[in-house]
Amino acid sequence: MSDRTLAPFGRRRLPVVGRRSVGAYVVLSVADPDGPAPDAGQFAMLAAAERWGGGADERPFLPRAFSVARRHADGTLDFVLEDVGPGTERLAELDAGDDVWLLGPLGRGFAPPRDGRRPVLVGGGVGIAPLMIWQDALGGEALALLGFRDAAHAAGAALLPGARVATDDGSVGHHGLVTELLVPELDGGAEVYACGPPRMLEAVRALCAEHDVPAQLALESGMACGFGACFGCVVPTRDGYVRLCVDGPVLDAGTLEQVA
Ligand SMILES: Cc1cc2nc3c(=O)[nH]c(=O)nc-3n(C[C@H](O)[C@H](O)[C@H](O)COP(=O)(O)OP(=O)(O)OC[C@H]3O[C@@H](n4cnc5c(N)ncnc54)[C@H](O)[C@@H]3O)c2cc1C
Ligand code: FES
Repeated sequence: MSDRTLAPFGRRRLPVVGRRSVGAYVVLSVADPDGPAPDAGQFAMLAAAERWGGGADERPFLPRAFSVARRHADGTLDFVLEDVGPGTERLAELDAGDDVWLLGPLGRGFAPPRDGRRPVLVGGGVGIAPLMIWQDALGGEALALLGFRDAAHAAGAALLPGARVATDDGSVGHHGLVTELLVPELDGGAEVYACGPPRMLEAVRALCAEHDVPAQLALESGMACGFGACFGCVVPTRDGYVRLCVDGPVLDAGTLEQVA
């Protein structure tokens, strides 16, 4: 028996049904009415169906990994993209009428809060993506603390209702790190769910360990296949190396010596 939603065999060609800018991010909507409902924290490997690579004489790109950010009642999946390189640039320019290749849902997502604990979601930058679908799954009430570098990125906080925001430059919300918003929330009844850049995740891990608060961290690593075949995504844990694409991307913070 599997404790996660498994992907159908093979990748599916699916239509893009929407694209909108939210500050520095692009929300890409893909119709997947026949696909399984992903667990919060699972991801998909995405590739544009056309022009995915360097042209006729060059090699195509590998697909890229993206957290499922939201699933609507009609099966539409939302992804939140930050343009950091050629793959995200190409995906972020897609619009209704284009198609993507999608493989997923993949990996293991967030587990429910243990012992009736109060979930506290902590996101950094585009790490807000898996927290959106997790906040939906928790009933929309969970407290979200989000950190961004500036106002253009902080506009992404609108995707998580009621979020408290910190920015590096002080242009929106608290001037400082999102972990400064987290400290007062670390009472004995909390369970933390975090996704963001490695430095932020390591700070969250260390704080939670110090306050004896359980935490689940959605990590990233370079992923070539997304389904366990290439071993490109391994990360060290206290029990040895794990493949993040099949054993994660969500790992219990207690299994990690540190987030590198
Ligand atoms: C499980 C998972 C979920 C993800 N979810 C999202 C998401 O919801 N939205 C989103 O915008 N991005 C997400 N990413 C990251 C995304 O896959 C990368 O940004 C993307 O592959 C970059 O491709 P590129 O061709 O645009 O840039 P590249 O040229 O491949 O990379 C640009 C820069 O980003 C770095 N980079 C590339 N891949 C990663 C990675 N996986 N982790 C950290 N740094 C990386 C490279 O070292 C380089 O500095 C996720 C990654 C994983 C593993
Ligand atoms: S991405 Fe290939 S094994 Fe994880």
